[in-house]
Amino acid sequence: MQIFLDTANLQEIKEAVALGLIDGVTTNPSLIAREGRRFLEVLAEICALVDGPISAEVVATTAVGMLEESKPLTAVSPNVVIKVPMTAEGLKAVRLFSEQGVKTNVTLIFSALQAMLAAKAGAAYVSPFIGRLDDISQVGMELVEDILDIWDHYDFSTEVLVASVRNPVHVLDAARLGAHVVTLPHAVLLQLLKHPLTELGIEKFLKDWNRVPV
Ligand code: G3P
Repeated sequence: MQIFLDTANLQEIKEAVALGLIDGVTTNPSLIAREGRRFLEVLAEICALVDGPISAEVVATTAVGMLEESKPLTAVSPNVVIKVPMTAEGLKAVRLFSEQGVKTNVTLIFSALQAMLAAKAGAAYVSPFIGRLDDISQVGMELVEDILDIWDHYDFSTEVLVASVRNPVHVLDAARLGAHVVTLPHAVLLQLLKHPLTELGIEKFLKDWNRVPV
């Protein structure tokens, strides 16, 4: 399973890259706004740090507007993937982007049929938002299961990118289902590394090692 980092924070990206675990980065307007810096500058710096797909979201509401808005973004790096909202105009844009060889990530997916339509339009990725479904008392991971069930019957090249991940159980479930990609907040990535028995084990080994004669 590929692991993307879901952040626009350069320090978090640097730390995750140093771990050697990061295959790409996803951003969204809220994450970019949190940094308080110009979008294109942040995007260029992320692209310089990570050699993999970097999702940059458009905010235009028409297909033509999305294509126009994407031009300075794709000019930053060939690794930029244009993140497009799951709307009729978004799907029109996805088709046009795919004809131009520009990869897209269709975001704000909350149903398996939305995912199927985005795949048919030519999206490189679909992003089901798991945590936001959990937030409204719907089991988010069931959506990933439904999408992957559909994918089993057809030959879509579109990758299922599990987004709005809030905890390690989401990551475990996504991996068990065989999702192609999971995008993680930095804090969740760090949670995956840890286990109290690992820490206790290291502590005991170090304590015992101190009793070994030199
Ligand atoms: O990649 C989309 C993701 O950032 C949304 O996460 O936690 O705002 O639902 P969240």
